[in-house]
Amino acid sequence: MIPRFIFTPDEKAQLLSLLEQSRLSPYKNYPEFSQEIRNLHHLVPPRFVKECQDISHERASHQQKIHVIRNCPLDPVIPDLDPEDPVTDKHLKKNRFISEAFLELFAQLTVTPLLSYETRNKGDFFTDVIAIKKYSGQLTGFSDSELVFHNDRTAHKVRADYITLLGMRCPDDDLIYTGYIDGADIIKNLEPAHIEYLRQPHFFTVFDVFSRDMNKQLSTSGKHPILSNAHSIRYLDTMTCVAPEAPLEARDAFIAFKNAMTRSQCKRHRILTGDLLTFANQDGLHNREKIDVLNPESASSRWLLKTYAFKDTDTAESFRPFWSENRAGCVID
Ligand SMILES: [Fe+2]
Repeated sequence: MIPRFIFTPDEKAQLLSLLEQSRLSPYKNYPEFSQEIRNLHHLVPPRFVKECQDISHERASHQQKIHVIRNCPLDPVIPDLDPEDPVTDKHLKKNRFISEAFLELFAQLTVTPLLSYETRNKGDFFTDVIAIKKYSGQLTGFSDSELVFHNDRTAHKVRADYITLLGMRCPDDDLIYTGYIDGADIIKNLEPAHIEYLRQPHFFTVFDVFSRDMNKQLSTSGKHPILSNAHSIRYLDTMTCVAPEAPLEARDAFIAFKNAMTRSQCKRHRILTGDLLTFANQDGLHNREKIDVLNPESASSRWLLKTYAFKDTDTAESFRPFWSENRAGCVID
């Protein structure tokens, strides 16, 4: 995809020196870290503030739900992480948080409060898309494999409206693409009779291996519809199934849904170091394709910093009963 916005060297330097002022760790005290970033808004380059407002408007009016911003400020040193346990290693090695501060700023300027899961990395609001050795070849974002079309955390009760990925380390010679299909496109390719059955709870989803490892009680979701709202989708390819007792029409609708996905336009983006890619999690489906990996070793060191966000403050507030020990935004799973 062509980036919507590219920071000029001056804007990047200006934002970097601003975000450098923050010394608090978002992993130890998220509310104070977040407040510190909020206090800097009046010093942010105005062109970027305007861009974030435009993105919010395009999302709310269903014009465009995937955006790319290039040449974003990052930490001056991006540490190499231990592939056996990269997250623990990140907590040990990272003592500057400029990348996190930039993601927090983007979330604040687009008015999309961040969401975290208590059972994932103790509720960290900034998580990592990085290969963990033991998940190699498996269907989870924490592997080095390709990923089929899905929403993140399909099987969970509280799901992000938006996912944002920041390229921390993206090897130059590896063509790894994130694909996105918009829910509105899929629905356009479906007949009303099929839509009706896809809106009924005739389907279930098997939890991914990482979620099962983090919380042993999880195995499959309750029965759920595939379509909801205007064009929200709840689907994990090959893991969302038709319930055994569902009517025949639901099976036909399921096949029609798969065909509609194949017919829909797929936007693809190769995330470069310093790229921010942000897209709808529920109003679309995303995947990961390894088109050509020339150097598997460097590809496995690929590191994206990731946030989950609610679409607005009212939606975040509606999930208050799920907050863990009154930690706003951190949900019990
Ligand atoms: Fe994902």
